[in-house]
Amino acid sequence: MSHKPFKAVIPAAGLGTRFLPATKAMPKEMLPVVDKPAIQYVVEEAVQAGITDVLIIIGRNKNNLSNHFDSVPELESNLLRKGDQEKLAKVQHSSDMADIHFVRQGDPKGLGHAVLRAKAHVGDHPFVVMLGDDLIDERDPLLTTMLAEHERTGAAIVALMEVDSAHIHQYGVAVVETTDNPDVVKITGMVEKPTAEEAPSNLAVIGRYVLAPAVFDVLEHTQPGKGGEIQLTDALQEMATSEPGVYGVVFRGRRYDTGDKLDYIKAIVQLAADRDDLGPALRPWFKEFAAKL
Ligand code: G1P
Repeated sequence: MSHKPFKAVIPAAGLGTRFLPATKAMPKEMLPVVDKPAIQYVVEEAVQAGITDVLIIIGRNKNNLSNHFDSVPELESNLLRKGDQEKLAKVQHSSDMADIHFVRQGDPKGLGHAVLRAKAHVGDHPFVVMLGDDLIDERDPLLTTMLAEHERTGAAIVALMEVDSAHIHQYGVAVVETTDNPDVVKITGMVEKPTAEEAPSNLAVIGRYVLAPAVFDVLEHTQPGKGGEIQLTDALQEMATSEPGVYGVVFRGRRYDTGDKLDYIKAIVQLAADRDDLGPALRPWFKEFAAKL
């Protein structure tokens, strides 16, 4: 790929209150989805798109996260002694696959505030923001399309997905105009978590953004918005009103939401059912189980 060296920023400083008590001493991004912490899927998605410089914005309980992406010599030598190459490879993969950095967001004041914490590390690079609640199936590449669209337009690019009105209040929602490409829309406005009645469209922002460093200047003066937090959506709303603007890539692939308990359970079942090692046993069991409900 010929694009500039993008960096990835993964905010992981939220309190994870929906998953208490599991998240009392562990960030929600470390909750396992089948057998990998949710955040590892996100880092793997970045790596798959050619991005190996990853900055994780951490809050309290940072040690779990940094340990996961670090090597563990005693575990590795134990597996080596047992000749368990398969598990050894899994353990080493999480520390080898990318160059992971951490920065602390002391006082979490919203997603916009978290992204602003990446300013020094990102420097003059375009970068992607990836939210750990949204997992994108590796068979349905989204990020590469978004990076190409950023290269083409120089604009901020957000991932959008059609969401039914019962769930639209959980998302940032875009006001859009069509373009020549049916999968790309020009964004003329953005509203953070509107009610179903206020929602300007059914196109919701899912957690992938490609941004130029210019977003930091906007975030620096963005006032607290919805929920009293500094919202990335509000900064994008401002950027949508001037050139090069904001575009949306409409994603129609498989996405797994791990943001609340029900969706998290669904994500685990869907991903496990698709796996060669678990699917053949899980699928017939699940049918039998469902028939009894
Ligand atoms: C954040 C953003 C929202 C976006 C969502 C995607 O909200 O603020 O605009 O639609 O992520 O998952 P959160 O889910 O962190 O409350």
